Amino acid sequence: MNQNIEIIVDGQTYEAEENSLLIDLLIKHEIKVPYFCYHESLGADGNCRMCMVEIVGQKRPQIACDTLIKPGMEVHSKGEKIDTVRTNILELELINHPVDCPTCDQAGECSLQDFYMDYGLHTSKINVQEKVTHAKHVDLGANVMLDQERCVLCARCTRFTDKITHSHELGIIGRGDDARVSTMPGRPLSNPYAMNVVDLCPVGALTSKDFRFHQRVWFLKSAEAICQGCSTGCNIYIDHNKPKYRDDTVYRFRPRRNDAVNGFFICDDGRLSYKALEENRQRQTLLEGQEIETDAACSHLKALVQQHQGNITVIIDANLYTEEITALLVYAETIKAEVTAPLEFYNDANFEDDLLKSAQCAANYQSVLDLNLSTQAPDKKGLIINFNYPEQFHADTVVSFNTHQGAQASLIFPIASYSENSGTLTNKDGLEQFSKKAVTKNSPSPTILEWLERLKQ
Ligand code: SF4
Ligand code: SF4
Ligand code: FES
Repeated sequence: MNQNIEIIVDGQTYEAEENSLLIDLLIKHEIKVPYFCYHESLGADGNCRMCMVEIVGQKRPQIACDTLIKPGMEVHSKGEKIDTVRTNILELELINHPVDCPTCDQAGECSLQDFYMDYGLHTSKINVQEKVTHAKHVDLGANVMLDQERCVLCARCTRFTDKITHSHELGIIGRGDDARVSTMPGRPLSNPYAMNVVDLCPVGALTSKDFRFHQRVWFLKSAEAICQGCSTGCNIYIDHNKPKYRDDTVYRFRPRRNDAVNGFFICDDGRLSYKALEENRQRQTLLEGQEIETDAACSHLKALVQQHQGNITVIIDANLYTEEITALLVYAETIKAEVTAPLEFYNDANFEDDLLKSAQCAANYQSVLDLNLSTQAPDKKGLIINFNYPEQFHADTVVSFNTHQGAQASLIFPIASYSENSGTLTNKDGLEQFSKKAVTKNSPSPTILEWLERLKQ
């Protein structure tokens, strides 16, 4: 490890590791520097030339992404001279860029738009009709669309498939005006992390087939949550919106940086798992298939508990939040029930890989192990009260609390899904993480904690 040294940026002294990248220092201290090709997960490539800074003693401006921090270094990140350099480079980037912003999905979260407002705002020397055109709708496979005209050739996407997934599907072909991102014939983008290139692309060249044209990004609100696709516990943003007169709806999951868990990325299965969250929801309280008042349903459950004393099993799903599991253990003790948290459904060796995906496909799998809960199928056949475990068990009477339809039970209670609720999860490495509530439905289903309160009354 190199020693820490001091350097001066814009007249201020900063401490940094000798020989670390200058751009990392600028990003860390939020010193404004425009860049397209650099990314902390991919390293420097030096191709976009946007990250120019002045270094005292150097004849010409240098790119911050490929400059190592040295003792005595003095840097100017702003000023008329460096702004002119950035403006000229940006103009070059924009020569053939289409005038697509009104219809582009990246609008509102586009580096090119932001840098244009900072360093552009010039009259173009090129007519729209003179711009070099390329293919605008290239289906790359794996849920990703490419617009070759919008690409600034930063090579983040190609470096992702080279350095992170090692699947090498993407490359830049052609030279000069003809240069463009492409796949090889018959070899589509098809790795399980492919949609991360959409987040990496600094402009609207790569868009998600799933998300494009569904929402303008400035309407979305983001909640910091944890993916429930497996026990890795990747950190995500749940982007949602409540359009006028309609319900609060999730539009996408995006990775949220956490270097201790998922870095910058998530898998495509986890990313698209938001769809299943919204579909086939259990919204009604049902007794033998007929809708019933919630108070009557609670009374009915209490009567069943009395009737089956000594012959009751509570089943806990390994995706429930720790706060819910803890409350259910107290409830089970109160009604003298046995407890089991089966894991069989959540073991999937085929899902696992070397990057992020875990074979333990439940978000709180580790908590079930840590709490030493039984994971056996219930052996009592009196009353089973199942809290959202997806498999069915047979008994004299089955009561089920469910986020989704499909339970075979005489009494069914609807419950809030994890995006409509908040709580703690322990990932496979024992890290406790808090997932915030994102969505508030017009007619919200109660959480398990709310149902348990009502059962006490
Ligand atoms: S498609 Fe996007 S990420 Fe890929 S090279 Fe072009 S601008 Fe960069
Ligand atoms: S690896 Fe697991 S936790 Fe991470 S995004 Fe994929 S399914 Fe979700
Ligand atoms: S970010 Fe430095 S050259 Fe692209």
